[in-house]
Formats: sequence, C-alpha cells, structure tokens
Amino acid sequence: MLAGDLSVSRRLVVETYAQLTAEGYLVTAPRARTCVSELAAAPAATAPRATANAPLYDLRPGTPDLGGFPRGAWRRAHAAILRDAPDDVLRYPDPRGAPELRAAVAEYLRRVRAVVCDGDRVVICSGVREAISILAGVLADAIGVEDPGPHERGEILTAAGSRPHALPVDGRGLCTDGLVDASLAAVLVTPAHQFPTGVALAAERRGELTAWASHGRLVIEDDYDAEFRYDRTPLSALQGLAPEHVAYVGSVSKTLSPALRLGWLVLPAWLVEPCVEAKRLRDGGTPTLPQLALGHLISSGEYDRHLRRARRRYRARRDALLRAIRRHLPAAQVTGMSAGLHVLVTLPSDVDMRALDDGAGRRRLTIASVGQFRLAPRTDDRALVIGYATLSDADHAMRLLAEAVADATG
Ligand SMILES: Cc1ncc(COP(=O)(O)O)c(C=O)c1O
Repeated sequence: MLAGDLSVSRRLVVETYAQLTAEGYLVTAPRARTCVSELAAAPAATAPRATANAPLYDLRPGTPDLGGFPRGAWRRAHAAILRDAPDDVLRYPDPRGAPELRAAVAEYLRRVRAVVCDGDRVVICSGVREAISILAGVLADAIGVEDPGPHERGEILTAAGSRPHALPVDGRGLCTDGLVDASLAAVLVTPAHQFPTGVALAAERRGELTAWASHGRLVIEDDYDAEFRYDRTPLSALQGLAPEHVAYVGSVSKTLSPALRLGWLVLPAWLVEPCVEAKRLRDGGTPTLPQLALGHLISSGEYDRHLRRARRRYRARRDALLRAIRRHLPAAQVTGMSAGLHVLVTLPSDVDMRALDDGAGRRRLTIASVGQFRLAPRTDDRALVIGYATLSDADHAMRLLAEAVADATG
C-alpha cells in the first residue's frame, strides 16, 4: 500500500524498512506492527547548541560525522554482550586486549587492508595516540615524523621519551632520500593518505621505506583514513610488504567516534611483549565491555554496513564541497581529495594569511592552515586544510570563506 501511495516499488519499501530497522529507528516483532523506536524519537545527537559566538562552520579537519554513529547497532552489540558474556569478562582486562576483539580486528585488517597478522600480534589500546605513545616509550630513541604531519605527534613522542625528527613531505608523500643519514630508530608515516596533504605514498617510496627498515629499524604505519577512499584504486597497507619491520596502528576514531577511545597495534613479533608490558603498566588494559561490543559489531557485519553508508555520505559531502570551491573560489587549487575526510585548498599568493584568519573569525568560520601541522608551527602557509565530514552547507561556508579571502587579498 505504501509502495502504491508513494509510487515506488515494493522492493524499495521492504529494503527501506530493513535499513531503518537495522539502524534502530524501527522496531519489529513477530505478529506485531512495526513501530518507530524510542531512538528515533530522541532529539538529534549532534544538534548544535545555539550560542552567539559559536562558529557557524568549523572547517578544521579531524571530526567525523557524529550524527552517523550507528547508535542502534552499538546498543544491540552492548545488549548482546551484557546478556551473553560470562562473569569472567568483568575481571581486570587482559593488557593485550579481549581475545574476541583481537581476532575480529585481525580478520578485518587481513580482509580489508591486506595486513599480515593474526590475533596474537594485535594489542588493543585506547587509540592511535596511545599506540604511538606506547611505541615511543618502548623505542626511547629518535623517530622521524612527517612535516607537515599529524597534530601533536611531536609532543606525544617527546612525552613518551623519544625524540621527533622532522622529515619533509612532497607531492609523493614522505621524502625518503635523507633517511639513511638521519640515524633514526623508526619513522612514523601516514602512507594511505598523508596527513594533512592527502597524498598517497608513492610505490617506490614504500619500497625504499621498508628496505630502510629491514636493517634493524621500524616503520610505524598510521593507516589514517584508509577506509574512506572515493576515486583512487585501493592501496593496501604498507605492513603487508614487511610485517616484521612495520608496526601498524589504527583506531575507530574516524570510522565510528573518537569518544570510544578504541584502537589497535599490529606488531612484529619482537615488539609484542614489550608493548603489552608497557600497556599493563600504563592502565592495566583497555576497558573490556566496549572492546567486546566493538568485536561484536565487526564480526556481525554491522561495522562493514556502517562503513558503506558512511562512505556514501562522505563522498556526497566531498562532492558538494568541491562544487562550492569551484563556484566561490575558482582561483584556489584543490588537492588530496580522492580519499579521507578533508581536502587541501591552496590560495593564490597575494592572500595575507593573518588577515584571512581574522576575516574568517569575523564570519564565524574556524579555519586551519597547513602551517599549524608543522613540527614548528607557521602562520604563512597558504594552503587551508578543510574538513567536510560535518559540513552541512558547503555552499554557504565557501561563500563566506570567499568573502574573507577577498578581504585578505592585497
Ligand atoms: C593522522 C591521524 N591518525 C590517527 C588519528 C586518530 O587518533 P586517535 O585514534 O588517538 O583518536 C588522528 C586524529 O586526529 C590523526 O590525525
């Protein structure tokens, strides 16, 4: 009947009901009518709090679309764990992580990222930051980092007892030429989608990096944004080329939510025990119940379904942003758009970046430039890093940004 009322096929209606039920918006029971769930009636989780000075658009990268968190699937996973798990899971956690999650993560990474591993090589931790901090504490040596590169890396390495050493990045990713002379114990790199430039590490550099590491050194692979790839051929993890010389790190901070604080290390054999020991001494292990819920989400296929939906949504947002940039900032050069949740927008050379920051602030836009991601931050970089995961009206945001750019152009 509904199909007739809406002039759509019956199959579409059935699929839509199934999807809404899977997402927790509808509740079904045998021989009962389908009802709207309490979840659907709840207020939108990410409804912005209206305050006079709050930014209208936060264009900085880093936050995924929190409104897309699969609340229904997460709640069902937790309910299943609480119902079925034995009391033993309520003991102090295993510092390696729950065996169920380690096995689920290993299976997922083998299938999706061609990572070579089994659950014995996986250590669960509270995100990429902790993973890097654990490795930096174990190595306690000089570690090369991409410059520009991920926020706070230098501070995390220093706080854990290592020394960050800046390595340049160009249009093909981390520059590998200076590596041999740099006397480093390890290099921390984002090969799938360099942060913040968005380039993929070139094939010959992947080979050079693993060859360098094979002489008793380590590559720390932060597989950042690997799940979100739109029009680029799949690039598997570097770890698969040299599993004994690469420590692979990842988390659910971009795929689900950074609030979960759940991530993993996949380690060469010689690093497993030292890293588990470091984790045990830090906090005794990551909380078990959320680990089991994530393991359930992954092994039930809900995580894959969620990622497929998220990819479609992010692609649409990226396309809307690219259209808006072409329309309002035609002189800007856009790069790094084939994967991830942000693009790099290089502005013409006559834009005064300090004036742009002021003009953007007056229009209630929060912006970030590449210079903020350098080991020694700079204010003169003309490339903006624009995140689109939460950008609700790209056209309006880019219109305001274009006004600020026009005001800041000398
Ligand atoms: C390059 C990069 N990798 C990983 C992460 C995720 O870090 P975490 O897992 O600690 O939330 C971030 C977060 O901003 C990042 O910028």
